[in-house]
Amino acid sequence: MRILSGIQPSGRLHIGNYFGMMKQAVELQKQGETFLFIADYHSLTTLPKPEQLRERVTEVAIDFLACGLDVEKTCFFRQSEVPQVCELTWLLNAVCPLGLLQRAHSYKDKIAKGFDASNGLFSYPVLMAADILIYQSNLVPVGKDQKQHLEITRDLAIKFNDRFGEIFTIPDGYIPESVAVIPGIDGQKMSKSYDNTIPIFGTEKEIRKVVMSIVTDSKGLNDSKDPDKCSIVGLYKLFANPEQVEEMNDKYRTGGYGYGHAKQALFESMWNYFEPMRKRRNELIANPDTVREILQKGAKKASAEAEKTMSKARQAVGLR
Ligand code: ADP
Ligand code: TRP
Repeated sequence: MRILSGIQPSGRLHIGNYFGMMKQAVELQKQGETFLFIADYHSLTTLPKPEQLRERVTEVAIDFLACGLDVEKTCFFRQSEVPQVCELTWLLNAVCPLGLLQRAHSYKDKIAKGFDASNGLFSYPVLMAADILIYQSNLVPVGKDQKQHLEITRDLAIKFNDRFGEIFTIPDGYIPESVAVIPGIDGQKMSKSYDNTIPIFGTEKEIRKVVMSIVTDSKGLNDSKDPDKCSIVGLYKLFANPEQVEEMNDKYRTGGYGYGHAKQALFESMWNYFEPMRKRRNELIANPDTVREILQKGAKKASAEAEKTMSKARQAVGLR
């Protein structure tokens, strides 16, 4: 089984990224051959400054490696090291109905956020389909916001195969319901664009401050509280064991336990959870050559795999 996912280098990684996608990718490494990449071509759709893009690619590479990528099992690379993916995008564009892209909500969301309505932004899902199909992926771990992109990918693969023969594997998404949408500090979906994230790798002071600013209702210390309606408990569940969660639930219902206490417990469990990853990250920061070598080795393997699919696809459409 081949597993594949990608992440855009568009800012600091947060715990929504970790529990929504990275953790699944890390766990799935045991079950099959994994391909993971930094989607720098996709980042261009929002036109970052060139220097910023370069810096962020390195940062994301370090952070993802620190979160548990096993480079013996996983091919980790930069998307743009395999330009064949743009060639495949063009072939897929030819079979992509306009309506399929017009219905895509991520495009509408980006426009609503004030990004320019570029063709790159509009055809973003076609490049994503090429990413997935060029490596003949079976399983794609992502958060729920990417579900529609996976449906578009499957549609395009089926259309292409119907017309030109069985070139592509039809992939499935992997979106476990319990972590499909991680809440941010204001209770809505955690996302860089909502400025409500908890970074995975901030300083102790910074993360404590963010956790302490999680929005709650105005119940006082002695009031009984509903744990099911509180994002502190929602987040605590990600880090604590079931007994610890039950204990917090009981304290909420009984009263005499304030939101400040719960935030402190959340901060501590979160800080401890990421401790081994922080350590690995510091080692990687001290060894930039190692990171470069890993990405180069990954790019070589990914290019060879991509070329296998491309030579079949070119032949099938009549380009060779
Ligand atoms: P952001 O919304 O902060 O811009 P990205 O779009 O870069 O995050 O997401 C990268 C990956 O992390 C995707 O697979 C996405 O589905 C997942 N992800 C991001 N935020 C969350 C969240 N709050 N809950 C679950 N998964 C998430
Ligand atoms: N669109 C994804 C995101 O914003 C990133 C991505 C690009 C991706 N290509 C992919 C994810 C292929 C999975 C598979 O998070």
